[in-house]
This record gives sequence, structure tokens and C-alpha cells, in this order.
Amino acid sequence: MLKEYNPYLEEKNGELYLEGISLKKLAQEFGTPLYVYSASYIRDRIKGYQKAFPGALVCYAVKANFNPHIISVAAQEGAGADIVSGGELVAALKGGIEPSKIVYAGVGKTVPELEMAVDKEILMFNVESREELFVLNDIAGRLGKKARIAIRVNPDVDPKTHPYIATGMKKSKFGVDFETAREEFKIAKDLPNLEVVGLHCHIGSQILDVSPYKEAVEKVVGLYKDLLKEGYEIKYLDIGGGLGIKYKPEDKEPTPKDLARAVGPFLEDTEAQVILEPGRSIVGNAGVLLTQVQFVKDKGIKHFLIVDAGMNDLIRPSIYDAYHHIVPVERKTDEYIISDVVGPICETGDFLARDRRIEKLQRGDYLAVLSAGAYGFSMASHYNVRPKPAEVLVEKGSYRLIRERESYEDIIS
Ligand code: LLP
Repeated sequence: MLKEYNPYLEEKNGELYLEGISLKKLAQEFGTPLYVYSASYIRDRIKGYQKAFPGALVCYAVKANFNPHIISVAAQEGAGADIVSGGELVAALKGGIEPSKIVYAGVGKTVPELEMAVDKEILMFNVESREELFVLNDIAGRLGKKARIAIRVNPDVDPKTHPYIATGMKKSKFGVDFETAREEFKIAKDLPNLEVVGLHCHIGSQILDVSPYKEAVEKVVGLYKDLLKEGYEIKYLDIGGGLGIKYKPEDKEPTPKDLARAVGPFLEDTEAQVILEPGRSIVGNAGVLLTQVQFVKDKGIKHFLIVDAGMNDLIRPSIYDAYHHIVPVERKTDEYIISDVVGPICETGDFLARDRRIEKLQRGDYLAVLSAGAYGFSMASHYNVRPKPAEVLVEKGSYRLIRERESYEDIIS
């Protein structure tokens, strides 16, 4: 079952290993909470996209995990980056991604952020509003550069995912409708420092059924064809990210091949280079969060495992009611109990799992929270003056620390 999450995750003699490294050993050496990621998994995932979409540019969505060492693994496999802020641009460059492979979306890009990206000559700005066109044109003019742009369109499809991470519906703040896009293409064409090169859409995240992609890409390719007729040179069709992953034992995760089968027939009809922006499906199941049981508290009507990782380390259960599978790092018992796995934070919403059937554990035992590689560390905070966890990267039997655990001084200074 573990292998369905990550083929490099295995149980040997009752102990968990990732790429041949004992997770207990890592927890003891580096302390907990600790994020551990598998590099081979990340490489395989990027290759999976490249194989399913030959000729496409896979732009890893840095928001999922911005550790430059992780980005660098993606860069080594030829990936570009999808960014949403100046900070992510700096992280992508530090990770060794060439600017010519960076696409930049985001509804609220600031002047300093745009200046930095224009100066670096990134591949494409995925523009989300009319005003942004004018601001970007001014900046490019001032810097003596031309900025390549795509318009982010909103195909108005329901991705059937959590409402907080559905982005392609009419009422969302992202992108513009097709009519507005046509007007904005006209405006952009006449702005001297912009070059219209692409069309972008991203409909949401953690999408387990590929049919909404079919609907979205069909609509977007329709617009693409109209634009070509009108004389635009649309070189890039950026169809975003969002492919879901296995969180629950019963989840079946779609593969890049499944996605290609769904959207391929529409894309084959175009000359444009396809851009993909996967984040979660690259790093999500590459990573686990290791945590240690601090106390076991039984209140009769509820049993609690109180662990040293809280909502500040992994916020997904708290804000999306997300399920993360949790397994003991060392199998010591066959006895199970229904338990809440909770953190040390001063909020009732601070939990990693609720009413979960889990092994009967004791103070000092280690747990691995699965599927924690995406939107785990990248959404961590300092709430309750909690230093952010350390991060370790394992690959083929070796491991290295890729981020030190923060100190109190790091936070308070
Ligand atoms: N491209 C754009 C424009 C995006 O907004 C996103 C994600 C992606 C690509 C990558 O999507 P992915 O392949 O990772 O699904 N914090 C939430 C997820 C928010 C996703 C935001 N945008 C979570 O933990 O589930």
C-alpha cells in the first residue's frame, strides 16, 4: 500500500525506509518535526510529464515546495518553473532554473516584482488583468526590454475540488473571461513593449478526475484558433497544473498519461508549444513529515496522540479538512485505536487527523505523515513562535540536510 504513495517508500522489518534510508535514523539525527523528500520520485514524476507530453515545457510550480535544492532536482531534469511572486523568482533562479523557462502568474504582481522579472527576461508573464498590461508595458519600456505575455483566461469549468483551490470558475479572482481576453489581446498588441505570445489557464488543484481539463482545454483551444485567424502569433498554450495525488488509501491518482489522453486530441490540432505547471503531482508524494508523539491523552470519549508537529508545520488538515495518511515509523503493535492526532498549538483546529484508526502508540514513538511534500513546508508559519522544521533530501541510499531547523533567534530577530 505504501508503494502506491511512493514506490521508494517501504517497510522493512517493521520500519519505514525512503530510498533505502531509515526514517527513524533521520528523525533521531535531525530531530522532529522533519520533512524528508525523495529526489528519485521527483525526477520520475517530471519524466512522466515529459514522456506523456513530448515537446512540452514542464514548469514546476514552485509554490508547492520552494526549497532551492528541490527546485534544483527539477532543473536537472530540464524543468522550468511556474512562479507567483518575486520570492519564488529568486528561489527558482537559486535552484538553477533558466529565466527562459519561467512563467509568472498571479493577480497581484507588484512593481518591484515585475521589474525583477522583466529584467531577468523570463519566458512569459501570465497577465491576469487589464491594468497589469499597462503597468507591465511601462516597466518594460523603462527598462528597455520587451515583455512576453499570455493572457490568463478563465474557462469557467468546475474542477470538482475543494472550493478554496478551484480557480477556473467565473466568480474566482483569477484570469478573465474569453470576451475580456479578446479585448485585452487587442490592447496588448498595440502596447509597444509587450509581445503577445501565449494563452494561459489553470482551473484548480487536487483534481482527481481529468474530465474538467478536457472541457477547459477544448474551450481554450477554440479561443486559440480564433486568435490565430485574427493574426495573433500564439506560440505557447499553458494549460496550468492541478493534477491530483493520492492522499487517502482509496484514492486513485490520475497520471500525466491520463491527462494527455484527455486533452491530447485538442492540443494535437495546434502548432503551439504546450506548457504545464504541475506542483503537487511532482513533489506531494515525494515527501513525508516525521513527528514524534509527546503525550498520549485519553479523555474517555476521545483518545489523543499529541505530537510535535502542528498546524504551523502542516496546515492542510486545518484549513482544507485535508486527509493525510499517517503511519508509525516503527511497527510495534497490532493493536489499533480511534484517535485524534493533534499538535501543540493553542487552537482546536490544530490537528493532523481526526477520528483516525491508528496503531496504539506511546510517548516517544515516531509517525510519518504521508503526502506532505507539497504545500507542507511552503505553507508553514511561525505561529506560537515555532521554528520551521528542517528538511532532508534522500536519494539512492544517501541523504543530506537541505534546510536547517530554525532557531528562536531566526524568528524573533
Ligand atoms: N499554476 C497556477 C497558476 C497555480 O495557481 C497553481 C496552484 C499551480 C499551477 C500548481 O497546482 P498544483 O499542480 O500544485 O495543483 N495550498 C493548496 C493548493 C493551492 C494551489 C494554488 N495554485 C493545498 O494545499 O491544497
